[in-house]
Amino acid sequence: MAFNVGLLGLGTVGAGTAEILLNPELRHPLLSEIAITRVGVRSLDKPRPIELPQNLLTTNLDDIVTDPTIDIVVEVIGGLEPARSLILKAIANGKHVVTANKAVIARYSEEIFDAANAAGVYVMIEAAVAGGIPVIQPLKQSLSVNRIQRITGIVNGTTNYILTRMQREGADFGEVLADAQRLGYAEADPTADVDGLDAADKIAILASLAFGGRIKLDDVYCEGIRHISAADIAYAEKLGFVIKLLATALREPPASPEDTTDHLQVRVHPTLLPKTHPLASVNDVYNAILVEADPVGQVMLFGRGAGMGPTASAVVSDIQNIVALLKSSGRNPDELHPLLACIHEHYCTISPMDELVTRFYARFLTQDMPGVIGKIGTCFGQHDVSLESVVQIGFQNNLAEIVVVTHDVREGNFRAALADIRSLQGLAEIPSVLRVL
Ligand code: HSE
Repeated sequence: MAFNVGLLGLGTVGAGTAEILLNPELRHPLLSEIAITRVGVRSLDKPRPIELPQNLLTTNLDDIVTDPTIDIVVEVIGGLEPARSLILKAIANGKHVVTANKAVIARYSEEIFDAANAAGVYVMIEAAVAGGIPVIQPLKQSLSVNRIQRITGIVNGTTNYILTRMQREGADFGEVLADAQRLGYAEADPTADVDGLDAADKIAILASLAFGGRIKLDDVYCEGIRHISAADIAYAEKLGFVIKLLATALREPPASPEDTTDHLQVRVHPTLLPKTHPLASVNDVYNAILVEADPVGQVMLFGRGAGMGPTASAVVSDIQNIVALLKSSGRNPDELHPLLACIHEHYCTISPMDELVTRFYARFLTQDMPGVIGKIGTCFGQHDVSLESVVQIGFQNNLAEIVVVTHDVREGNFRAALADIRSLQGLAEIPSVLRVL
């Protein structure tokens, strides 16, 4: 007997999912045992990317999540509500759930996974992070025998596309964003992408899987790319870097042998990345995730992070995984598979940004007068900030432009030095401050 899928949403991802399930030839034979039996849509009359028998469609999404003949509910409507409530109702009705909804999972994972574990059903989220790149299953399974030290990702295609074009064309953020919106690479409201919120949802999910605990989204530092200028990209290039929006999660080493607390850093911000770094050549809309773990070393996953085909590939892989498990364990398993269920109970401790130790890049505009570079250097020195390089590049509107790269410093010390520098006579502006990997 086939496994029945109820699809909530027939937009881009829903249509891509149906396309794969309706055309199983030359794919895994398990797919031919999966049937789409109901599809929830907002309106019955809208033109759709795929033709489905009209009798499958309904505008009553509640009917799908309560339908006793459905085994797996696939939520691809996006947004927080009604997606969250429908997922919870599906779980309460004993359905397994596949969702591409990073926003819901990053905010409500405790509620959703507690409910799923109590109900004995799976909630699978491969499509929620980096679209077509298999990263959730590798973290849950093959990589989970390792001690994961660090995950560094380019997990937002829109911002990677914008930064890549700024780099290639020497253009400023605003003009590339407008063109990206015109071409359909950026949303009309680009906030979630360009302000780093989408990447923050994704790294919160990855950190939770990698480090075995829940992550409070509010603790994830999030800085977007609106303030990146063509000038910074050009200076970074001269210094041997590219600028990428990186999502990072890492486990800090214990402060002392007695310290048993797990301290994580989980953050999203634009970063100067050495051109030799494996992520530096990930361009355009592509995503990539670099996992560093013991003993496997570096593993990099690369691919398309969005779009119909890639996201549908991830959704269907989750459906197939559930079907494979149900075939071997029975449709109502007594126990969930330990590598596929999410059983985290505690929240991880995320270190405050002031404690972060990193290199910084800063650009200063100053009056062209004797001693300014010396005074800036003195302020840094007074706060224990050691400088790797100081260059006066040229002039902008009669102001001298000075670019500084520090050695590794505590972020709190660096910020304190900047506060002193801001009050220096002759200092006109600090147009940019960026972290350097
Ligand atoms: N808006 C996201 C991006 C894709 O630009 O990568 C969906 O998460």
